[in-house]
Amino acid sequence: MSRATNSDFDLTANPPQGVTRAAFLDLAVRSAGAAGLVASSALSPGLALVAAAAPLVMRPIPKSKNGEMLPVVGLGTAQEFGARSDAASMEAKAQVVKQLIEGGGRLLDTAASYSNAEEICGEFMERLSLRDKTFVATKFGERGKDNGISSVERSFKLLRTKAIDLMFVHNMIDTDTHLPTLKDYKAKGRIRYYGVTSTGGNQDELTKWMDDIDFVEFAYSVDLRAPEKRLLPMAQDKGVAVLVALPFGRNRLLNKMRGKEVPAWAREELNCHSYAQLALKFIAGHPGVTVAIPGTENPKHMAENLDAGRGVMPDAKQREKIAALWDNA
Ligand SMILES: NC(=O)c1ccc[n+]([C@@H]2O[C@H](COP(=O)([O-])OP(=O)(O)OC[C@H]3O[C@@H](n4cnc5c(N)ncnc54)[C@H](OP(=O)(O)O)[C@@H]3O)[C@@H](O)[C@H]2O)c1
Repeated sequence: MSRATNSDFDLTANPPQGVTRAAFLDLAVRSAGAAGLVASSALSPGLALVAAAAPLVMRPIPKSKNGEMLPVVGLGTAQEFGARSDAASMEAKAQVVKQLIEGGGRLLDTAASYSNAEEICGEFMERLSLRDKTFVATKFGERGKDNGISSVERSFKLLRTKAIDLMFVHNMIDTDTHLPTLKDYKAKGRIRYYGVTSTGGNQDELTKWMDDIDFVEFAYSVDLRAPEKRLLPMAQDKGVAVLVALPFGRNRLLNKMRGKEVPAWAREELNCHSYAQLALKFIAGHPGVTVAIPGTENPKHMAENLDAGRGVMPDAKQREKIAALWDNA
């Protein structure tokens, strides 16, 4: 009985019928790149592909003094994440946070107004010992200095932390009153960065504070491209980090594509296997974006979303091709 040798399994030595070895090698190397596989430098005698999840693409925080960077996909908690539901769904939420960190992500975006989300996030981070690995962003939307301070102090307690990585003025409420307070918290080291958010029709008003903040958060998606005109270029110009809220427009974008197959070019060129991944790669492909923060309560969706932050990012032409998929749907 003849024994199988390595070359019996070496498809590069024995490419599929009708395919030249050169063409097969080229395809294998390009697919490996797109899939986040690492090809060994010794392609001969066999194509030794080492399966390894590619790390998430990292983006700098321009105002950081020590070159701090963030993985380009994070997690949002605005919807049902903050609801204290039955044990099974609470466990799924804990798994989402675990998945975020174990999958190479870092940024968790919450807010004082997201029901019990701050409290639940604080509980999970403590129970899973994840606080040090998580970059926590939260928000407060109050009128008046004292109300603002009360809300910020409550966030420290609920998140069970001595320092908050990023504190936002939510929806631009009374921003001019709160920015000096936030500057003060930052000087004392209790808040590491601060910024302002808006996801309404008046997002462009965020440009008013772009000289004074570290981060900005607004809605941007494949079908809501207005931020490409002013907000994104200004943030790049002024060194303000950008969090992208509502990357799926809640369910607007994914509902539109329900039941449709992702085109072959998206799988081959960008390693995107779902429309969720395409919508996220469209965002992550913009050089002005720091982190996209899709919301989910489903650990599988969390893993899928993180995978959109790995490997090849679309160039300008590929981003237009992605947008056209929604335009023509
Ligand atoms: N003014 C503000 O500052 C502001 C306003 C709005 C939002 N935000 C932030 O932005 C975050 C994102 O916005 P959002 O959560 O409202 O909306 P979103 O991220 O655009 O969409 C969330 C929806 O997408 C679904 N989803 C997530 N991943 C999926 C996947 N891989 N496949 C299929 N479905 C998927 C989720 O359902 P499943 O749970 O089933 O996955 C959920 O219904 C918020 O959580 C919040 O942190 C900030």
